[in-house]
Amino acid sequence: MRLQNKTALITGGTSGIGLATAQLFLNEGARVIITGQKEVALTDLFSQYSSDQLYYFAYDTSKISEIERLAEFVQNTFESIDVAFINAGIAKFAALEDISEDLFDQVINTNFKGMFFTLQKLSPLFTNPASVILTASSGIHKAHWGSSVYSASKAAVRNLAVTLSNEWISRGIRVNVVSPGSTETALFQKLGLNTEQLNGMKDSLISNIPNGRLVLPEEIANTVLYLASSGSESQTGTEIIVDGGAFLKV
Ligand SMILES: NC(=O)c1ccc[n+]([C@@H]2O[C@H](COP(=O)([O-])OP(=O)(O)OC[C@H]3O[C@@H](n4cnc5c(N)ncnc54)[C@H](OP(=O)(O)O)[C@@H]3O)[C@@H](O)[C@H]2O)c1
Repeated sequence: MRLQNKTALITGGTSGIGLATAQLFLNEGARVIITGQKEVALTDLFSQYSSDQLYYFAYDTSKISEIERLAEFVQNTFESIDVAFINAGIAKFAALEDISEDLFDQVINTNFKGMFFTLQKLSPLFTNPASVILTASSGIHKAHWGSSVYSASKAAVRNLAVTLSNEWISRGIRVNVVSPGSTETALFQKLGLNTEQLNGMKDSLISNIPNGRLVLPEEIANTVLYLASSGSESQTGTEIIVDGGAFLKV
């Protein structure tokens, strides 16, 4: 019960990495607010939960007015938060020449502007001590085709953690980054590829992962739990890459 009596917010908690983290946090005793974009029934996502331990809020993180509504909901539900896993994000890949203003805005506004203003609006609600974990991507360290906007949005997230680790240290708030490698989630299904293209893409990614498989969302969740709980007090402004060894592959 590493998160007993703790309150936690997990954005993008309806799917993949966020959902696995929510399940782990609940098992560790936290009271959790998860967010997603669509309305969902918590009973469809969680086999076991109690209504005073798990809450849901639907919003679009790319819009500041909706982030303000989220901050209000967090304040009304918990008053303050001990742990924030700011994780909601999308992936879109295209050659630079094919990137429209709309695609650029979607990716930057969801992945970076959304995280930035979520942190700004939540700032008054953090306890002392508190732990903030942001999801970036191991891709920011690689030259992946088509990832100019996506990787830039995630590199900005990684850099934001560096600045905030300094700005917030005196308030007892730690800010760290988890950078997943290719992880088996619904994100792949949202890329608009057909089955053959999707399988080809996964095979190509796996061929560059030394342990021969995609990362599991539960493995990212374990890293987030480490950063969220006691035992990682000296860790702030850092990035933990969880990618099956792909980062170091020659
Ligand atoms: N999977 C990977 O290989 C991988 C690798 C590196 C980094 N990441 C990062 O990991 C994070 C989680 O991704 P995942 O793989 O778990 O993907 P996922 O299964 O598609 O989950 C994404 C979550 O973010 C939410 N979300 C997306 N756009 C949103 C918006 N505008 N407003 C509010 N919520 C929004 C989704 O809600 P809805 O479903 O309701 O839209 C969902 O809950 C993302 O930041 C992603 O960039 C993933």
